[in-house]
Parts: sequence; C-alpha cells; structure tokens
Amino acid sequence: MNLPRRRFDVLVIGAGGGGLRAALQLAQAEANVAVVSKVFPTRSHTVAAQGGMNAALANVLPDNWLWHMYDTVKGSDYLGDQDAIEYMCRAAAHLVIDLEHAGVPFSRLENGKIYQRAFGGQSQNFGGEQAARTCAAADRTGHAILHSLYQQNIRAKTHFFDEFFALDLIKDAKGYILGAVVLEIETGQPWVIEAKCTLLATGGAGQLFRTHTNARINTGDGMAMASRAGIPLQDMEFVQFHPTGIAGKGMLITEGVRGEGGYLINREGERFMERYAPHVKDLASRDVVSRAIYTEVKEGRGCGSHGDYVLLKLDHLGEKVIKERLPGIRQTVLTFLHIDPIDQPIPVYPTCHYVMGGIPTNRFGQVVAPYNEGAEEAIPGLYAVGECACVSVHGANRLGGNSLLDIVVFGRAAGNHIIEYLQGHRYHRALAHESVEQALERLVRWERSGDGESVDGLRAELQKVMEQNCGVFRNEEVLKEGVSKVKEIAERLQHVRLKDQSKIFNTARLDALELENLVDLAQAVVHCALARQESRGAHYRVDYPERDDARWLKHSLYFQEQEQIEYKPVRLKPLTVETFPPKERVY
Ligand code: FUM
Repeated sequence: MNLPRRRFDVLVIGAGGGGLRAALQLAQAEANVAVVSKVFPTRSHTVAAQGGMNAALANVLPDNWLWHMYDTVKGSDYLGDQDAIEYMCRAAAHLVIDLEHAGVPFSRLENGKIYQRAFGGQSQNFGGEQAARTCAAADRTGHAILHSLYQQNIRAKTHFFDEFFALDLIKDAKGYILGAVVLEIETGQPWVIEAKCTLLATGGAGQLFRTHTNARINTGDGMAMASRAGIPLQDMEFVQFHPTGIAGKGMLITEGVRGEGGYLINREGERFMERYAPHVKDLASRDVVSRAIYTEVKEGRGCGSHGDYVLLKLDHLGEKVIKERLPGIRQTVLTFLHIDPIDQPIPVYPTCHYVMGGIPTNRFGQVVAPYNEGAEEAIPGLYAVGECACVSVHGANRLGGNSLLDIVVFGRAAGNHIIEYLQGHRYHRALAHESVEQALERLVRWERSGDGESVDGLRAELQKVMEQNCGVFRNEEVLKEGVSKVKEIAERLQHVRLKDQSKIFNTARLDALELENLVDLAQAVVHCALARQESRGAHYRVDYPERDDARWLKHSLYFQEQEQIEYKPVRLKPLTVETFPPKERVY
C-alpha cells in the first residue's frame, strides 16, 4: 500500500509529561523530533496529576535526597532498582527548579520559596518524623507542568502530529525499531513515520479496571505495542489502587488532602488508620491505606446505607486552606457529589490509579530485553519513559508524588541518551515493508463486518473481571478464574465486529484498537499475579500473606507470544551509596 511517509530523527509516541520532557531535550539539541499523540497534547493524562512532585528541597521541613531515596526503596517494598532510584532522587531538586524556569507556577510559601506538602511514605532521617517533600501548584500540579512543557516544545519547534493513533512499531529483521505506523484519526488514513529512534511515552492502563482515576485514553497502547514486538513486560502484577477515589465513581481525591491534615474515618467516626499505621497514620503508603479501607468495609465499619465506603474528613482545615490549596478537588466534589468539602466529608474508596509495571528499561530510558543467561541488551532504536515504562523506580508500590518526578527525570535522561545514540546512527535504515504490512493488519481485521459482540460490552466485561479477580486482595482461586475469564474474553474479541465502517473520526474503530491493547495487558497482569506466590507492595495474596525475599525478590517478565514468565534479579546496588537492604516494612 502506498502510504504517506514522513522521516524524523526521533519519533516520540505520547504527549504527556514524559514524552514532552524528552522531546524538549531533543528539540533544544536541534534534533528533528516528532510527537504523535492520540489527543491534543494538553489533554494527555499528566494534566490530571493533582498533588505534586517530590524533591528534597527542604523548604518546609529538613530533608535530603538520601532520605527520599530510602523512602522510595521502602515504599517499593524493596522491588525497586536502587541505581535508578538513586539517580531519580538525586536529580529531583534540579528538575523542579528547571520546571520553575520553564514557567510552572508552583504555589509559594510566605518567604517566596516553592510550597511543599507532606505525602504518604515520606520521612526524615530514614523513617523518622514526617517530611514535606511534594512540590505543588495547588492541586493542579500536572496541569501546570504539562502546559509549560507543551509551550516550551512549541518554542523549540517540536513537530506535533495531534490526534494520530499509533498502531504498531516498525521493526526490521535485525531487531532495529524504525518508527511506527500511525492512523490519522480525522481522515482514517494510515501513515508511516520513520525515525532513527523511537520513544514510547504512552502512559498507563487504568482502563483495565471498572473504577479508576485514569483518563479514557489510558489504554496501555505503548506497552501493548512493545509486547506485540516481542518485548516482555515487567512486573505487571503490581497495580496501584489509590486509597481515595470518589466512592462508586473513582475520580481522584488527591493524597494532598491528607498531606494538608485531612484524615479518614469509619462509620463509628473512628480515625481507623491509627490501628493500621500507628506512626504515620493516614500518611502511610498507598497500598497500606487501601488495604485498611477495604478491611474496614469488609468488617462492617463502612459508611452509608450499604456500608461500602469510608469518609475523608477535611472540613476542619477551613475554607481558606481548601480554597487555596485544594480548589480542584473541591470543584470535583461539588460537580460529582453535589456536596461542599468545606462543610462535609467526602465518601471515598480505593480506585485503580497506576501500573507500576511496564516496558523494561535502564535508567537512560533504553528498552532492554534478556538475551541469554540473565544478561540484558538494549533494543536498538527503542526507548520508553513514564508510566508505560518500568525503569524500575516504583517496584511493588509507587509513592505519591514520584510519578511526576519519574516522567521529567527519565524523560530528560532519555532525551540526553538519544542525542548520543543519534551520533552513532546518523542515517535512516531501509524501511521494513513487511513490518508495515503487519501493522496495517490491525486495521484490516476491523474491516470484517457482520454480527458479533460489541466492543463496549466486552470492554465492560473485561473491566469487571479485572476488578473482581485481580483487585486489592487476591488468592489462587480468584486469580485462576481471572486467567480463564480473560482468556475467554481474548477469544471472544476475535468475533467482535464494528458496525460503523466509516473512515472520518471513527471513534468506534479506536475503541476497538484500544480494547485489543487492554486485553493483551490484562493477560499479562493476571498471569503474573497468579504466578507470584507472596505479598509485596500492591500485590497482596491472602493465601501468601508474607513477603518472601528468598523466593520472590525478583522482577517478572511476561512474554506475550509464549504466554511465559521469566524472572530477573532486582538491582540492589545503587550508583554511589550503600544498598538499603530489605527489611520489614512498617509505617
Ligand atoms: O494523590 C495524588 O495527588 C496523586 C499523586 C500521584 O499519584 O503521584
């Protein structure tokens, strides 16, 4: 097929904070860089990040990057790679200032310094008093960062393909990634975008679950593309449930509420986190707080007529603090619950928020895959950053405020590494036509018409299965059932048909392509969750309630084609400091 073709030095897929930070680094170095995004860039999901970005600036309380590193290692339940964590925590302060200079309007303290609030799992002095490490622009920090990065990219002359959906990577016989086949949503026209180097920054996959904090667009497209290209996905069993989603609806109520002094109560008005995390209470890490809420509800101490949520109390913070520091969540609560949190507590329940796993990378953003005897090699011409990647700084449980940090630190690092890569790879390789044809097959498949199940129906079923069979508490029986139900959904997907075969802005076709991606990822999640016979971070097995470092201090790697799981060691050795050895994790 004769397709429109464009050539760039670098193709970035995804226009959230990770993609835009990498693109900015590249464009400023005069690389010819294109960003493909299925939505207008400032609608990317980074825009929804509320509470802030961690950096040990010590503007409010004493702090130090090494304490940040300790908290992150501990928060990860020791599954995080300590070299990458050291790199991230050391870079944090510099990158916050860099964002400030790029125009991010951070909130301010009286003395003019950047405002920082407490977030879960933050400590001074390796587990001592609470720290306040999260740099915030009210409760719209992601919005502020995304808009500033977009504006800086426009200034640096990054080329944007807005509303183009990436179908698949183009890969040649030698394993080089040569760009991607993308679909222009407005016209239905597929294009080939060739690049010497491709960076995936497509974000997460919260749409796997029925209740979530994620945008409609978070369908794991980059992870699924990498997986189809033969790259294993790492640590997919670790899915984070944010403790405070609006009950029954899922929208995010920032951890910043608890950072500002809000707290959770059960039907008896008891501040129950005192029992689960006596030291830090409501500011324990997310996995701990989510399990506590589930337990309260399960044991009959939930609120409301069905006893199926708890309350987040913040009225005692006062109107001024809520209006200045938490205006976004106030608006959300007014809109969706018709109550004002200045006067009334918010009904909350855990909601899917973040996928810790993803495409395996090193700390330069290079995608890596095992080749033999445990050694890894970089896939030539392929990088990944942000939630779609697993670098792995979050391990089994991410700390709030480390996601915005991750995307800017590793976006910049990948940009810098790609600049070096381009020096050794000056010319485009010959286009792999077979790979292009294969990518186009994804479209051809949806041209089959006739009767069949609907995309919407199957997607809703997938989300329900994931919620029921792979949620906060798991055991062998429900996971086995989950594996077989997801497999059945994958088979039924083959028989789904599209009624609308039009080309122009056919969002039904996009839904179908996204559902394919979700189903691929769901298989990775349920298989890996069934295989891991221990409890660690967000993966809690009722039948294996203890963490088991002797058998399971290792990363999983799921190979889609073979439906097979391999494991690789955690990198416990940091870059310059001593290892934080695994120990019991208490808050
Ligand atoms: O609660 C929040 O504001 C979420 C922040 C995060 O996930 O990092």
